Amino acid sequence: MTKIYRKAVSVTAVLALAFVFSNCGSSDKPAEQSPTTPATPADNGEGIGNFAGKEVAPFDAALAEKGKTLFEAKCSACHKLTGDKIVGPGLKGVTERRKPQWILNMITNPVEMTQKDPTAQALLAEHLTQMTNQNVAEDEALSILNYLRQNDGAK
Ligand code: HEC
Repeated sequence: MTKIYRKAVSVTAVLALAFVFSNCGSSDKPAEQSPTTPATPADNGEGIGNFAGKEVAPFDAALAEKGKTLFEAKCSACHKLTGDKIVGPGLKGVTERRKPQWILNMITNPVEMTQKDPTAQALLAEHLTQMTNQNVAEDEALSILNYLRQNDGAK
């Protein structure tokens, strides 16, 4: 009696397992076909580096003043503040066409940016010179960003 009972239980168990597996298989398929999981995460325009995902404070005139000195020392060999290109693009309007996080990442992490960020990759393809890492500290980069904001009319 117990033997038959056990057999019945194990047959039921096998059937139940088979049902579970067949169910798994069929529910997997539509998930594979759905295009909801992109291969790479979407570009949110903040670039790659320490500033991605961080809040950036609004315009600060005192920081812009510090940024002017830094810009002249570390950036002006390759960038004008007008729209004209020298080695790199003219920076007029850059604070309108890029997010502040992107600009800060470009200043502090230019090599990785031109390798992996789609916007920076396109700029490298256009200008054919790698922007060099100028060893700009994070607070210095913030000052330079404010100088660029001032150049674009921030008050
Ligand atoms: C050796 C030349 C060089 C120096 C020095 C340099 N850059 Fe660049 N910069 C470039 C080039 C070239 C590009 C375009 C991307 C590339 O080819 O690497 C660029 C791109 C940029 C961009 C993006 C412009 C846009 O249109 O989106 C910003 C912002 C920028 N640089 C800011 C700076 C700042 C601020 C400094 C100083 C800390 C600096 N750069 C120093 C050459 C330079």
